[in-house]
Amino acid sequence: MAPVLIAANWKMYKNLQQTRDYFEAWRSCRYPEGREVVFLPACPLIHLVQSLLPEGQKLGAQICHEEDEGAFTGEVSCALLNSLGCQYVLIGHSERRHIFGEDDTRLSAKFKASLRHGLRPIFCVGETLDQREAGDTLAVIRAQLAAGLGEQPPASGFDVAYEPVWAIGTGKVASPADAAQVHKVIRSWLDERGVEKGTRILYGGSVKPGNAADLLEAEEVGGLLVGGASLSAESFADILWAGLPKTA
Ligand code: PGA
Repeated sequence: MAPVLIAANWKMYKNLQQTRDYFEAWRSCRYPEGREVVFLPACPLIHLVQSLLPEGQKLGAQICHEEDEGAFTGEVSCALLNSLGCQYVLIGHSERRHIFGEDDTRLSAKFKASLRHGLRPIFCVGETLDQREAGDTLAVIRAQLAAGLGEQPPASGFDVAYEPVWAIGTGKVASPADAAQVHKVIRSWLDERGVEKGTRILYGGSVKPGNAADLLEAEEVGGLLVGGASLSAESFADILWAGLPKTA
């Protein structure tokens, strides 16, 4: 069984000093064995985070460009991320889809580029409130998977995150039952295409120390993608322990 993956999506928060302070606090926290931990800082912080990360914890990026190099002012290639020590990259986060207009074609190209450069993409899907209220959630999720991963995705080498857009940064968390319903549909979609069970399906959207254990208990939830609550070392450490005895 693949380890539970807990990822910290720092978004556009923290500067150099705040990052140093965070890892000073982080190093005095206790972490459980057997959970995979990934930090996804803003790109200019990647190198610093790499130098401060405790052994065994991993690094990733929040963005990537689909081309290997070129005249793409402001962009960051997967090859560069790999050379900086990144092992993971987020693709298709709802903020990238909705604020920056990244469409299915680009997301699919980014997904392929990340694999080509040895990164493990966390491919994000999720419905808006309007889509949920119209009863379109499952159709939207299946369409996003097909467009981004392709009708014949690779058998392994990536993870998926389900992040209902209405739950991101809003304090409105999906219930474990809501999460399980969508996660099971994602798992069936992956199974039908021969994708290995080691492909985790993370839940994201207002995860906090108080709800993390219940969400991790939900069927097919193989990890958590944490935004706001990962910005404090203490609350992120609490989330890592979710559902485990603190003595483990
Ligand atoms: P949130 O963000 O935990 O602040 O809701 C999650 C995400 O956007 O990845």
